[in-house]
Amino acid sequence: MKLFKHYKNKEYKYIGEAKHSETLEDVVIYETRYENESAKLWVRPKNMFFDLVEKNGNQVSRFKEIQLELRETSIISESDIQHIGQIMVKAFGQWDPKWFYSTFSNHSKFYLLLAFIENTPVAFKLGYDLNKNEFYSWLGGVIPEYRGLGIAADLMKKQHEWCQMNGYSKVQTKTQNRFREMLLLNIRFGFDIIGYHMSNEGGPKIILEKYF
Ligand SMILES: CC(C)(COP(=O)(O)OP(=O)(O)OC[C@H]1O[C@@H](n2cnc3c(N)ncnc32)[C@H](O)[C@@H]1OP(=O)(O)O)[C@@H](O)C(=O)NCCC(=O)NCCS
Repeated sequence: MKLFKHYKNKEYKYIGEAKHSETLEDVVIYETRYENESAKLWVRPKNMFFDLVEKNGNQVSRFKEIQLELRETSIISESDIQHIGQIMVKAFGQWDPKWFYSTFSNHSKFYLLLAFIENTPVAFKLGYDLNKNEFYSWLGGVIPEYRGLGIAADLMKKQHEWCQMNGYSKVQTKTQNRFREMLLLNIRFGFDIIGYHMSNEGGPKIILEKYF
């Protein structure tokens, strides 16, 4: 994830570095995360982007990287479930604890990743063990205001690394046509579509698998 906060407190998405075509100077391209009438995309010499400026008599970074704080656990607490609920409400527009527990209670071995930005829960990814070789990636989402920053990709990469480290040879997941971003993300991460089954949850469920 590449998210920076300007010393005047506004957030920017870091797009990447480029070279000025005339001077070959290194520049940074970045995007506003708020309405700005002048422009959405901005460019600034790299050394200025990473430079210090004076604020209230102190030297501070002109742009400070906002860190994604990742918490991972296999032992899921009530407070973790509350965080999942908060993210679900924003990411899916609904949270039904009964529905969650009807699956959650039938499994015992989990891997949960929760992502926070400045102490706010912004994303999660939760899966469980199907057997000693197969892991099922069950639920995940990123709240709308932090989408498009690579957070879901970070969580998926971390989940797959954990699966490999824990001896799983395959991860399975399911999604629906209406969750197109997730479908694309899964395919980008090497999942193959292996079939589908009908469901009463808003369309057929597409089954995807990835072997390590
Ligand atoms: C799906 C979801 C988790 C993606 O989160 P995100 O943090 O915005 O995704 P990322 O920024 O990490 O994107 C990673 C990749 O996913 C795909 N993707 C994500 N959003 C996309 C979009 N709006 N359009 C097309 N592709 C998209 C792209 O391949 C993207 O890679 P790229 O940026 O290099 O093109 C988020 O949109 C979400 O929470 N959606 C609602 C809940 C949901 O669908 N959950 C899954 C149910 S099965």
